[in-house]
Amino acid sequence: MKIIETIGEMQRESDSMRMAGDIISVVPTMGFLHEGHLELMRVAKRHSDKVVMTLFVNPTQFGPAEDFEAYPRDTEGDLEKARSLGVDIVFMPNAIEMYQEGCQTTVRVERITQPLCGLSRPGHFDGVTTVVNKLFNCTKPHLAIFGQKDYQQLAAISRMVMDLNMDIKIIGVPTVREPDGLAMSSRNSYLNPEERQSALCLKKSLDLANKMFQEGTKDARIIKETIESLIKAHPFTRIDYVSLCDPMTLEEIEILKDETLLALAVRVGKTRLIDNCLIR
Ligand code: PAF
Repeated sequence: MKIIETIGEMQRESDSMRMAGDIISVVPTMGFLHEGHLELMRVAKRHSDKVVMTLFVNPTQFGPAEDFEAYPRDTEGDLEKARSLGVDIVFMPNAIEMYQEGCQTTVRVERITQPLCGLSRPGHFDGVTTVVNKLFNCTKPHLAIFGQKDYQQLAAISRMVMDLNMDIKIIGVPTVREPDGLAMSSRNSYLNPEERQSALCLKKSLDLANKMFQEGTKDARIIKETIESLIKAHPFTRIDYVSLCDPMTLEEIEILKDETLLALAVRVGKTRLIDNCLIR
């Protein structure tokens, strides 16, 4: 497995893989890899000849009061996991390499980045789409793999690729969960045992909403109120949003349709967790 730290070397490497006829996939990560990331690598391996994993904790997607400094890091462990999965290249630039002096371009996807996480994390998605664009330009992939747990991120990146006519296929991979249902996330490591227990309210909410819909409830307000009560009954929780929305536009809906996105963000203690599902 090659470890590359500079943009120039990464671009040269991608050029020669392309010249050799290899299909390249990229798995962008911020490291501290868990089973959810490993699943992204496995999907990448199945769909391509060469897998490039990027490892970069991107400062521009963290707000001033967010956890950039404290974000968990384990470079040696990450490299070991990537190696064991057969990743071909890890691209791990530092922040100076990625954001060179004088850098003044931002890639913004307008509408679908405004609701949900966009409300409480202003600027977050600008940071994500800008860095993902840069990572695409460094790694020159044919395919890029992202988790569906970050539904809005996946939607924004898919929109960016479409809007900017990028010749890259985006693959979304279903959320990987702990045996008790908690969606895997690097931020789960912040939870103490009591908070970890309360965090199960997210998955319980998704299951409850699905059950209500299957039993005939179509009124979004009733489902939302029921979920909000369920979450509030769990200690240490504070709701950021409970949204029933159109899966394409992310606009709130009043009456559930054939397919509706339920998206949640809940603070458990100091940790902000997200989860989602499609209700069909
Ligand atoms: O999902 C993440 O880990 C990050 O938002 C990403 C896509 C690697 C961009 O920094």
